[in-house]
Amino acid sequence: MPYLTDDEKRILQGEEGYVPQLCMQYLVEVCEVSGAERLIDLDGTGDFHTPTTSMSPFYEFSFEELKKLVDSGAHFKIPTFANKAPFFAVPPVDGWEDCNLCSYGDPEKMHCNPEFHREAMRDEWFELYRKMGMMTTHSCASYLTASYLPTMGQHCAWNESSAVPYCNANLGARTNIDGSFATCFLGKAAYYDMHITENRYATVEVRSERMISSDLEWDVFGFAVGEEVGVKVPVLTGTAKPNMTQIMKLNSGMNTSGAVRMYHIPGSTPEAHTLEEALGGRKPQRVAIIGEAELKRAYETLNFHTSDDVDMVYLGCPHLNIVDLMLLARKLEGKKCRVPLWIMSTPWLFDVAKKLGYLKIFKDAGASLMTGTCLAAMGGVPGGVRNLAVDSAKQSYYITGCYPDDDNRLQVCYGSQDDCIDAALTGKWRGEWR
Ligand code: F3S
Repeated sequence: MPYLTDDEKRILQGEEGYVPQLCMQYLVEVCEVSGAERLIDLDGTGDFHTPTTSMSPFYEFSFEELKKLVDSGAHFKIPTFANKAPFFAVPPVDGWEDCNLCSYGDPEKMHCNPEFHREAMRDEWFELYRKMGMMTTHSCASYLTASYLPTMGQHCAWNESSAVPYCNANLGARTNIDGSFATCFLGKAAYYDMHITENRYATVEVRSERMISSDLEWDVFGFAVGEEVGVKVPVLTGTAKPNMTQIMKLNSGMNTSGAVRMYHIPGSTPEAHTLEEALGGRKPQRVAIIGEAELKRAYETLNFHTSDDVDMVYLGCPHLNIVDLMLLARKLEGKKCRVPLWIMSTPWLFDVAKKLGYLKIFKDAGASLMTGTCLAAMGGVPGGVRNLAVDSAKQSYYITGCYPDDDNRLQVCYGSQDDCIDAALTGKWRGEWR
């Protein structure tokens, strides 16, 4: 049992009502499982995956209980955002009209069916969450559009592969994979792992032999690093300084093959100006070298197909930022796709892309802009697609996992965004690791 303050004990005893008590029970159990000796008061931001509460099934509560809580005037204690679109169907928030895909293989539930879309978005839950203060960003990369980010050292409760390291490594704020109704509502989290300074120093140095600088290199490198370090905190050396798109690729890649919540790039990430600072003045437990062989092996794990005929192209894992959309519009302007090209971004950027003219460019090129979800989250690809082209290690890895028992399973052409655009325009795959 962790140490609890008098206020926390009162909540645990149910003096503030059923839902606060349930949330406190959940946090106490997280402390017990993780070995945390106490809770920490959060002063940053949070997110969780709606409409469930993202707590263990034993601590879920009903819609009626939530309504009662909202009627009593309850609010989230910290600024709270929403992870991807609703959990049970993960539909596109925008652009669903083009989404000729059925939800988790159920032909009765086509995402492009207006009735199914309305049902899948289940507004009544969001109304309640919004009354409590949730900003329904509906994105695995809600930090792209949140317009309010935690600052250095603030304690947060975030989720998601690209987001958790973004919070820790890139912003210098602190989070575990903590985002839930309980953490956001009570404004507290179990005090362990990345909330504690000592655990944030690197223990493994990962040295790259190639100067990692292109988007594809960062994506492949991220996957190779995750495989190499698992759950350890690495310091990455021998790379260039990543830009925002490359950070998203690195972060999601590392958390596909591994579970990297925190890392350092000396001179780039804020908690490590030097290698010594990243290591907390100690020697690394291990130095791992990522050379050409390791990068090629990672690329080949993600790029596996027997035919160069591409049926569909998917871009936007993690969700694309506004610069990605601008560059993509520039590349597609005046062109025509031969095979479907789906472009995924965050819901709040849909209107921005429309105002800036990108949506029209995509439509004219025969491409579809959608938001708030992804193929892997929706559970597969449209019927008839046997060979999918993607530019994301994470999407390549998870989309094939949607077809575990299919001998004739989905094949993936994996490469750079330019390789994918070329495939969308020609229907042929010409990408390779260079
Ligand atoms: Fe996001 Fe789906 Fe990729 S949830 S990070 S776009 S696998």
